[in-house]
Amino acid sequence: MTTSSSSTSQRTQVAIIGAGPSGLLLGQLLHRAGIANVVIEQRSPEYVLSRIRAGVLEQVTTDLLDEAGVGQRMHAEGLVHDGFELCFGGARHRIDLHRLTGGRTVMVYGQTEVTRDLMDARSAAGLPTVYEAEQVSLHDITTARPRVRYLKDGVVHEVQADFIAGCDGFHGVSRASIPADVLRCHERVYPFGWLGILADVPPVSDELIYSNHERGFALCSMRSKTRVRHYVQCSLDDKVEDWSDARFWDELRARLDPEAAARMVTGPSIEKSIAPLRSFVAEPMRYGQLFLSGDAAHIVPPTGAKGLNLAAADVRYLSHALAEHYVEKTNAGIDDYSRKALRRVWKAERFSWYLTSLLHRFPAGPGDSGDVGHRMQTAELDYLVHSEAAMTSLAENYVGLPFEA
Ligand code: APR
Ligand code: PHB
Repeated sequence: MTTSSSSTSQRTQVAIIGAGPSGLLLGQLLHRAGIANVVIEQRSPEYVLSRIRAGVLEQVTTDLLDEAGVGQRMHAEGLVHDGFELCFGGARHRIDLHRLTGGRTVMVYGQTEVTRDLMDARSAAGLPTVYEAEQVSLHDITTARPRVRYLKDGVVHEVQADFIAGCDGFHGVSRASIPADVLRCHERVYPFGWLGILADVPPVSDELIYSNHERGFALCSMRSKTRVRHYVQCSLDDKVEDWSDARFWDELRARLDPEAAARMVTGPSIEKSIAPLRSFVAEPMRYGQLFLSGDAAHIVPPTGAKGLNLAAADVRYLSHALAEHYVEKTNAGIDDYSRKALRRVWKAERFSWYLTSLLHRFPAGPGDSGDVGHRMQTAELDYLVHSEAAMTSLAENYVGLPFEA
């Protein structure tokens, strides 16, 4: 590292932008492969941990966290779920993931905890992580010596790397650094949002409940046996202050079957927020020596619990490709990264769109009359829960499709 009074310059193999799950998991896997990396994050660790996100991990994600050496607490505190329930027409119907997928399950373990475990592992390994980096910018992306520049404590810092991993989320600088005539974006914005709360009360049921109700979608999820994460579909015009805790609990109860509603325990929210829903994919996921992973490249509506799992899948492909470059001296993996990652991304986008379309209340379409949309949904749900083939398809997508070799 070279230093002057107002600037520094350092060298690494992979510069990672973003210390969310994508960036930290990539950093951990690269470190274990002996590949030097620096993580550059614009926010503080506390801010990163304060963001409440999803909570269902595919088995391939838990396997990857084990490969990264950070799975211990997840296995100790996470909840293995063999199935979930669909609620419609005033009754619940179980989707037996374990039976339908030949033994596969999902792990309920909050993204905040995954991020915390990755942060702790990175800190324990003494790996370079820059928090509260300002004015992060990417340079010479299409050359063999790309650079990342950032401001910290009034000093301009420059990181020279072989590769840059853009793990900086939907609003990051990495995707924005790809020329507009190269980048192709595909987006669908949904006409509603999710109002979510976190509360220290026992779950409504042992497993997740996804509810299609004429009042709107609802989801009863959890973080542990004493902490719940529940959601109700709400209008995009709603503000969090429009929703008192009491209003939330009444609306959630109204969207559940009688037995679940009777079992629901209410309590004060410890977090309450509204999130919009969109399907978004940016192609390609590589430009020169810049590789996009996670939310930097794609967004899914949370209905299918795919956001974190897709980020982990990108990171799995990218970490293996970079290891092949450095260890096996082949670029086959990095040259195929975008194609391979996007193939999985689009299947998860399709599944997340399908489940969102099936479970939410949509405004009537231009040619609709009566309650045709809701009737079509309940007919599909009735078919689904009585068809082994349909439930198998739902289950194998929910637990996570196999990786391409
Ligand atoms: N410079 C440095 N860091 C940045 C910049 C920037 N210009 N812009 C954003 N970041 C940071 C953010 O502060 C955040 O900590 O990049 C990180 C991106 O993290 P996430 O948004 O969590 O994205 P990702 O790591 O891909 O994880 C995807 O998070 O949003 C959920 O549903 C999503 O579960 C999925 C997961
Ligand atoms: C959550 O627990 O936050 C969660 C679970 C399943 C989903 C979405 C969110 O499909």
